[in-house]
Amino acid sequence: MSAKRAGSEGRRVIVLGGTSEIALEIVRALQQRAPREVALVGRNHESLSRSAEELRAAGSPRVLTFTLDALELERHSAVVGQAFEELGGGDIVLLAVGTLGSERGGQPEDVAGAVSVLQVNLVGAGSLMMEATRRLRAAHGGTLVVLSSVAAERPRRANAVYGASKAGLDALAQGLADDLYEDGVRVLVVRPGFVHTRMTRGLDPAPLASTPEAVAAAVLAGLDSGAQTVWAPRPLRLVMLVMRLIPRPLFRRIKR
Ligand SMILES: NC(=O)c1ccc[n+]([C@@H]2O[C@H](COP(=O)([O-])OP(=O)(O)OC[C@H]3O[C@@H](n4cnc5c(N)ncnc54)[C@H](OP(=O)(O)O)[C@@H]3O)[C@@H](O)[C@H]2O)c1
Repeated sequence: MSAKRAGSEGRRVIVLGGTSEIALEIVRALQQRAPREVALVGRNHESLSRSAEELRAAGSPRVLTFTLDALELERHSAVVGQAFEELGGGDIVLLAVGTLGSERGGQPEDVAGAVSVLQVNLVGAGSLMMEATRRLRAAHGGTLVVLSSVAAERPRRANAVYGASKAGLDALAQGLADDLYEDGVRVLVVRPGFVHTRMTRGLDPAPLASTPEAVAAAVLAGLDSGAQTVWAPRPLRLVMLVMRLIPRPLFRRIKR
């Protein structure tokens, strides 16, 4: 066992995407078990401060905030480094940065919008992931939780850009997981389906839609069991297995 505590036990939690409803619910769920010191990294100072207040009210003894946009690649190293340093290290890192790219849930309106989704969800989030894992590796332990999506398993025509961005991020996380294994660093890839958060507000819920609380419970169970991947809810694993087998001519008929 590494010097750092594995699974869900670690006391120091760093959230990249510090205002994410799902990530904050995961922190609250961890907090219900034991107090956690938290660093929230996100792009909006006021929203981060509100999230920090909520966590303090939920019992976090210490919550730090750091302002950083996923698109500001040149600041990633400095700010992620500062978060690790000021918190005194990181036991659990949650990577939750992500955007749907369209309020109606479909494809972005134009190429610029599509590129922006790829920049935030894949390039920006990927850079943050690598900045975090570099530090976990140097510390010989810790756990990275990556909020991927079922969309990563097989992007549909209606979510090709978002799905591609998540597929890239998911693949990066899996490759890094293997590369980091011998250094004592664990990576948990989380693939939720439709979750009721502000990201999906106003959209028609997909089958097996869930809540941030349900995703948080699945993540804690995954951390406890040492899983490498969790689907939320669990039956989506089987659904996606079947989806992957559907021949392209049939799959392209799925328009939503
Ligand atoms: N909700 C779902 O149905 C669902 C399903 C599968 C996977 N996911 C994934 O789960 C993660 C969390 O989503 P959520 O449902 O909790 O939605 P959310 O509350 O909207 O969280 C998204 C997070 O990404 C941040 N973000 C977006 N663009 C950013 C940028 N340019 N720079 C820095 N941060 C940026 C947001 O910050 P701001 O507060 O500043 O906007 C927010 O913290 C995302 O990666 C999402 O793709 C969600």
